[in-house]
Amino acid sequence: MSEQLVLTKIDGGVGVLTLNRPAVLNALSNEVMEALGEALLALENNDAVGAIVLTGNEKAFAAGADISAMKDWSYMDVYKSNYIGGPWETMKNAIRKPVIAAVSGYALGGGCELAMMCDFIIAADNAKFGQPEIKLGTIPGLGGTQRLTRAIGKSKAMDLVLTGRMMDAKEAESAGLVARILPLENFLEEVVKVAQGIAGLSTPVVMMAKQCVNAALETTLEQGLQYERRVFHATFATQDQKEGMNAFVEKRQANFRNM
Ligand code: HXC
Repeated sequence: MSEQLVLTKIDGGVGVLTLNRPAVLNALSNEVMEALGEALLALENNDAVGAIVLTGNEKAFAAGADISAMKDWSYMDVYKSNYIGGPWETMKNAIRKPVIAAVSGYALGGGCELAMMCDFIIAADNAKFGQPEIKLGTIPGLGGTQRLTRAIGKSKAMDLVLTGRMMDAKEAESAGLVARILPLENFLEEVVKVAQGIAGLSTPVVMMAKQCVNAALETTLEQGLQYERRVFHATFATQDQKEGMNAFVEKRQANFRNM
């Protein structure tokens, strides 16, 4: 049997997905993305999971789409197969639970784009981000010109996309791409702890919060504010809002039941 391309582990309410093609720095083939899509959906549908962590290995989160697979494809090959559609977009289209990208090593091209599809990025201090597609005679295709620009602004996005240079974790954090940096030592363990904190909250309310933050990128401010208020009101229909506020008043730990 061929090796599993994406490994799944469940740890204290957190689904940890590990990209597993270390020999090619986790190059993202269609097969990897199909496996990742299936693994994400399995966690989305697993009531024991409240948050997801996507990671790679110490050397690479993912060094991009699989160049060896892509290099001879024609326009018709990529157009007719809708390359980078389907399972490549499962994260965006079907995952309501929060997903943290735990990035150590290289996150380049499609790897950087995959990290940006997650809800936020925690970087190890050895992480390196970049969109080097221009050096291959192509451009980013999975949101590298769009999500990166929204995350770090036009000037810096242009710098990265037009030169293909990499930026280190510190630069990525100060630019706003990365939420926090943690030491490489015990990196995944520490990210899983962050995810466990989220998994211990009310999962439906966490999903509502995620949806509202995402709406900020798609709406005018006024529409976004209205949307947020409606969803805020809706949280008062949950038992978890009652539990959370009563627990605060009673000076005890809340016990959320995802209801
Ligand atoms: C296929 C890859 C790969 C990739 C690395 N490898 N990246 N194979 N696709 N994206 C393979 C190498 O060929 C090599 O295989 C092995 O992984 C180890 O890589 P090395 O280059 O030997 O390692 P190193 O010298 O440490 O350099 C690391 C690196 C370099 C700087 C990250 O590998 C690199 O530049 N990789 C390509 C990065 C890139 O251009 N990404 C964008 C891809 S296009 P062998 O068999 O020789 O050991 C893209 C399009 C996005 O992502 C749009 C669609 C999603």
